[in-house]
Amino acid sequence: MADLQNAPSIPRRLLITGGAGFIGSNFVHHWCHCYPADRVVVLDALTYAGNRANLKDLEGKTNFRFVQGNICDRTLVNSLLNEEEIDTIAHFAAESHVDRSILAPDAFVQTNVIGTFTLLEAFKQHWFAYEKPAHHRFLHVSTDEVYGSLQPDDPAFSETTPYAPNSPYSASKAGSDHLVRAYHHTYQLPTLLTNCSNNYGPYHFPEKLIPLMCINILLGKPLPVYGDGQNIRDWLYVGDHCTALDTVIQKGKPGETYNVGGNNEVKNIDLVNLLCNLMDELANDLPVSPSQKLINFVKDRPGHDRRYAINANKIRTDLGWVPSVTVAEGLRKTVIWYLTHREWWHPLLSSDYQTYYQQVYG
Ligand code: NAD
Ligand code: TYD
Repeated sequence: MADLQNAPSIPRRLLITGGAGFIGSNFVHHWCHCYPADRVVVLDALTYAGNRANLKDLEGKTNFRFVQGNICDRTLVNSLLNEEEIDTIAHFAAESHVDRSILAPDAFVQTNVIGTFTLLEAFKQHWFAYEKPAHHRFLHVSTDEVYGSLQPDDPAFSETTPYAPNSPYSASKAGSDHLVRAYHHTYQLPTLLTNCSNNYGPYHFPEKLIPLMCINILLGKPLPVYGDGQNIRDWLYVGDHCTALDTVIQKGKPGETYNVGGNNEVKNIDLVNLLCNLMDELANDLPVSPSQKLINFVKDRPGHDRRYAINANKIRTDLGWVPSVTVAEGLRKTVIWYLTHREWWHPLLSSDYQTYYQQVYG
């Protein structure tokens, strides 16, 4: 858990969308820990990726409220903004998995584009009604995937890299980013936009690379590496992402975009090998050992982006944020978390998840 980050001036009143998901729930914990006087209202539809158990230690706390609902429900969003006198939206709610967007893109357009539009419209009306207070903020959490794919020697993505999304997921996030930009440009809505690289850490749903590999190693199941395993991702520990978002809310300039990255570019196959080594060292009940024996190269993802890398100079120089966790430390912490939280991930391997798994991996 991060230390108290920035001394609060006046208590904020936050609406955190998608707060029962992976990054959202880490952010809710971060905020409630650092700013206990602030009001935190979570709005989450509890899709397959949302899990109320991620927030169970906050249930019953005076300054915390959980609302199950859809960000596309304008009436609900309006009433929450008004009755809770919200001054800050931190918007995480999204359909977030590329493989699912290839199988069924509809929900991605609905939630990521229409949902973000609904929140922007509601917040605009609310901000106007309050006569545009200077401290109101709309933080939109987005992805580096909007910038497309890099060649091995290309410079890392900066805030001025042209958008070139390649998957239905990244295209829907790009659409939402453009709306956010337009709402600042046209209405001066006090927006903040962040584009971050791949996160990892506690509460990460099993379908994504790192938790999937940890869980399959513990279950003795094959480790499906797409294509030749040479694709590169720039890994960011979720706790560092939360401190970056906190810094952007407190110090970011409305209308600006900030890239957030961990400066940890790793090839997928090297990452899987690192996870196997950590599991072999830390787990004493592996069904298959050494776990590298489980690595299985499978058919590539359609349109698979080759490389992502983030240039995080702007947030470092303008706002003073730096990541604190190296990939070696972060992966060790993450492996230990999956080893010691079997009761968290085991119920998530439900029949729905098995159906999805079968569709993707055959
Ligand atoms: P996640 O899939 O783990 O969680 C998404 C949450 O949003 C879930 O709790 C889900 O129930 C909720 N949700 C989905 N549709 C909703 C709707 N219509 N109304 C209300 N709630 C809804 O996602 P995550 O990995 O925590 O990602 C959070 C945000 O960060 C997303 O916007 C994603 O695009 C972005 N992002 C994620 C990563 C990453 O590595 N995970 C990297 C870059 C950017
Ligand atoms: P993922 O965690 O799905 O994130 P993203 O696609 O948003 O980057 O995947 C990370 C990388 O791992 C990506 O290059 C695809 C690859 N991958 C596999 O090789 N096997 C898998 O089973 C999964 C889920 C991902």
